[in-house]
Amino acid sequence: MPLPAKRLSALPTYFFATLGQRIQALKSQGIDVISLDIGSPDLPPPPAVIETLHEFARRDDTHGYTGYVGLPNYRAAVAHYYQRRFGVELDPSREVLPLLGSKEGIVNLALAYLDTGDKALVPDIAYPSYAMGTRLAGGDVNWIPMSHEDRFLIKVDQIPSASLQSAKLLWVNYPNNPTGATAELQDYQHMVDFCREHQLILASDNPYVDVTYDDFAAPSALQAQNAKECTIEFMSLSKTFNMGGWRLGAAVGNAEILKTLLQVKSNVDSGHFRPIYEAGTIALNTTPLEWIKTRNLVYQRRRDRIMQTLPHIGLQADNPKGSLYIWAKTANGDGERYVDTALNEAHVAFAPGGAYGPGGQAYIRISLGISDERLEQALDRLTHWYHQSSLV
Ligand SMILES: Cc1ncc(COP(=O)(O)O)c(C=O)c1O
Repeated sequence: MPLPAKRLSALPTYFFATLGQRIQALKSQGIDVISLDIGSPDLPPPPAVIETLHEFARRDDTHGYTGYVGLPNYRAAVAHYYQRRFGVELDPSREVLPLLGSKEGIVNLALAYLDTGDKALVPDIAYPSYAMGTRLAGGDVNWIPMSHEDRFLIKVDQIPSASLQSAKLLWVNYPNNPTGATAELQDYQHMVDFCREHQLILASDNPYVDVTYDDFAAPSALQAQNAKECTIEFMSLSKTFNMGGWRLGAAVGNAEILKTLLQVKSNVDSGHFRPIYEAGTIALNTTPLEWIKTRNLVYQRRRDRIMQTLPHIGLQADNPKGSLYIWAKTANGDGERYVDTALNEAHVAFAPGGAYGPGGQAYIRISLGISDERLEQALDRLTHWYHQSSLV
């Protein structure tokens, strides 16, 4: 067998793939594992979305290739959503690029901009694809510290100037996976001003913008003044409309950056299945705000149940105003040990904070994407387990 490409040596196996194998091994022994690790919505999309998929899949004329820039009505729906939701005007033909989920765009953006030796600035607790995409492209990751004291907001004025040499991309993500941190418009304004000053691309990954609690409305980076000069934002239908498996999103913002991203994409994929674009268009154009609010109240209730339980299971966390996660600090500062022990002894799976970067070692991530019934079982199990566990 030929050896795999050397670039893969910088790329560990995707963390959730490995954890999934361990969970599968326990399940194959007949053990009932409850998963609080994966950030996948457990509820269905709005009914009109499913009906549209059916309707278009039944037609004879919807099965061919759709082209590299998606359908015009989907691009228009994304632009309309940005106008309605954030007051941001986008030209659907130049400033919206459909994606097969935002993860694809995140990795392809790195391939589009980073040569060997180029750097991406990545928060040191972050969704793993920013660092992995950078490495896949042959670039280097410069970690930007994030801290609890700063509410896990990156402080651009504290980025050392040495880190900026050969840097091309700054990754940000609010509401944040995994910390649940949120940003205000003024935070984005600092980031935009900084990126314009230092000729960086601001890559704002924003899939949780509509997953918020306690009446918080999360902004888009594109609302900041002059944002379009340097910003690309990744939006996704995965979390906003419970459509994770449908793989539909878009990159929006600076037309030149989108054109460069398309140069990679058009050589890698051939667009989506038309019924999916049509269903996504319906999701964006017709879902009542009330549907999103009601769904968010379900997550909020789960968040509150978990927050009540944390003090009884050796964990501590800030109440998140957004995202699908609680970022909990372990009493002994060792998230990996907590996760291992909870999986082996209580058969409840969490994600260890270290999987999100060097700054996350003391933490674990708890997902809200689990049914109320299974969540109650998990909390009950954990409460009985913790005091007699090998952790105390
Ligand atoms: C921060 C963040 N970005 C991007 C993604 C990928 O989302 P998509 O389903 O749009 O590829 C996720 C998925 O969990 C995420 O948490």
